[in-house]
Amino acid sequence: MKLGFGGGFESQREEVENLELEVEGEIPEWLDGSLYRNGPAIFETNDSEAQHWFDGLAMLNRYRFRSGNIYYTNRALRSDKYREVTKNGFGPGGFATGGGILDSLKLVFGKPPDNASISVARLGGRHVALTESPGWVGFDPATLEATGRIEFEDDLGLHQVCAHLHRDEKRGETIGMGIRYGRTSEYVFYKISDKEVRREEIASIDTRRPSYVHSFGLTENYILFTEVPFDTSLSDMILSDGGFIQSFEWRPSEGTTLHIIDRETGETEQHDMESFFTFHHVNAYEDEDSIVMDLVEFEDSEVLQQLFLDTLESRSTITENGSLVRYRIKNSDISKSSMYRGIEMPQINRSRHTLKHRYVYGQATAREGCDGIVKVDTDTGESKEWWEEDTHIQEPVHVQEEGSEDSGVLLSTGLDKQANKSFILVLDSSDLEELGRAYLPFKMPFGFHGKFYSDL
Ligand SMILES: [Fe+2]
Repeated sequence: MKLGFGGGFESQREEVENLELEVEGEIPEWLDGSLYRNGPAIFETNDSEAQHWFDGLAMLNRYRFRSGNIYYTNRALRSDKYREVTKNGFGPGGFATGGGILDSLKLVFGKPPDNASISVARLGGRHVALTESPGWVGFDPATLEATGRIEFEDDLGLHQVCAHLHRDEKRGETIGMGIRYGRTSEYVFYKISDKEVRREEIASIDTRRPSYVHSFGLTENYILFTEVPFDTSLSDMILSDGGFIQSFEWRPSEGTTLHIIDRETGETEQHDMESFFTFHHVNAYEDEDSIVMDLVEFEDSEVLQQLFLDTLESRSTITENGSLVRYRIKNSDISKSSMYRGIEMPQINRSRHTLKHRYVYGQATAREGCDGIVKVDTDTGESKEWWEEDTHIQEPVHVQEEGSEDSGVLLSTGLDKQANKSFILVLDSSDLEELGRAYLPFKMPFGFHGKFYSDL
C-alpha cells in the first residue's frame, strides 16, 4: 500500500501542554534541555487553502528532556497573520500565494507578514520565531505563547531577511542578512550583539536583480554569500500576479557569484562559480591559506516548484536531489568535491561552527516513501544511514556529550505512517543506533528547523 506523505502536509490544530510522552527504549540521563522546532502546520481554513508548503501557518513545538523523560508542548503561533487567516482565510501576501499589484506592493513595502514558521533563535535574551519577511515574533519558551512582533531599534529598512542566522558564541553576536529592495537593491549583512535588539550593518552589496537567499556561510573572519542565479527585480516582483517567489527567474547562464566579506572591515571580494541553487550552507572555516565551504547544492531551482502542495500530492519524495558538496577557495581557485547525494536539512556539532568540522548530519532523502538520517564523515568520505519503512524523518539536531565530535545524540521528529502518529527519535550520534523514541498523541506535519537549549 502506498501511503504518500501520510499526512505530513495535512493540518494539525490540536495543542497540548507539558504532556509526558511514553518513552520506548531509553533516553540518556545526561540529556537535559529542550528541543524547539518550528514549521507550518495549518494549511486550510475558512474554505481556503495555502498553495505552497512554506505558506502554512506556523506551529511551535517543544520537547523537554529531563531525567530520561520527555515532556511535549505545541502551540500555533498567534501572529497577526494567524488572526487574519483564521478570520478571512488564506489570501494574497504569502511566499507563493499572490494577488494583484497592490497586494505585491503591500507584501514588499507594507507591514511585513509575520507567519514566522521557519526556525527559532535567541536574540538579546528573547526567544524568537523566524521567517523570511522581517515579521519575526517573540514567544515564551515555557508555554510557547506568542509575545508579539520583534521591533528592531535601528533603521536598516530591510524588506526581506534570511531566517538562518549565525550565532557566534565567541564574539557574543549573531550575524544575519537581508535585502533592501529599490531600483538598485542591496544585500545587507548585519550583526546583533547579545545585549541589544539592534542590528548594526557590516556591509552592503548593490544588485539590479536580487537573488533568493535562504542561508549563507560564516568563518571566524568572513561571511560567505553565494548569490545564485535565481533572481527577480523590484518591477517584476510588483507586476507578478503570483506570490513572492513566482517572480523569480532561473538564469543559469549568469552563474553563481561567491562574495567573501570581511566581518571587521566589510571589504568584499567576488568569485565566479558554476551555477547552482542552494537553501542550506552547512559550515565553513579557514584552513591555512584556503577557505572551506560546505553546502547542500541543487542543480537548479526546480526544488522550489516541487514544494507547491499540489505538486507534492503526486510525488513520492520531497527533495531527493540535494548533494552535500565542499568548495575549497584558495586565492582565485575554487575546487569542488561531492560527498553525498540525497540530503537536506544539514547539521553539525554546534561547537564546530566556523571551525573545522568532520561530521555532517542530515535528513536522507533519496528513498521513495520515507526519509531517513545520514551521517557523513567528511575526512574519509564514508557515510552511514538510518532508515525505517513508511517513516519520514525531519532535521536531526545534534547534542554533544562530553568527548569526541560525534559523541552524544541526534534528536529528530518523525512521522510513522503505519502508526499514523509523529514521534521524537533519539539516536546515538556516533553509530546512528536508536536509543529511544516517544510518540505524540497525533500527527504533526513536517516542520523545518529546530534548536536545542540546554538551559530550558
Ligand atoms: Fe532552512
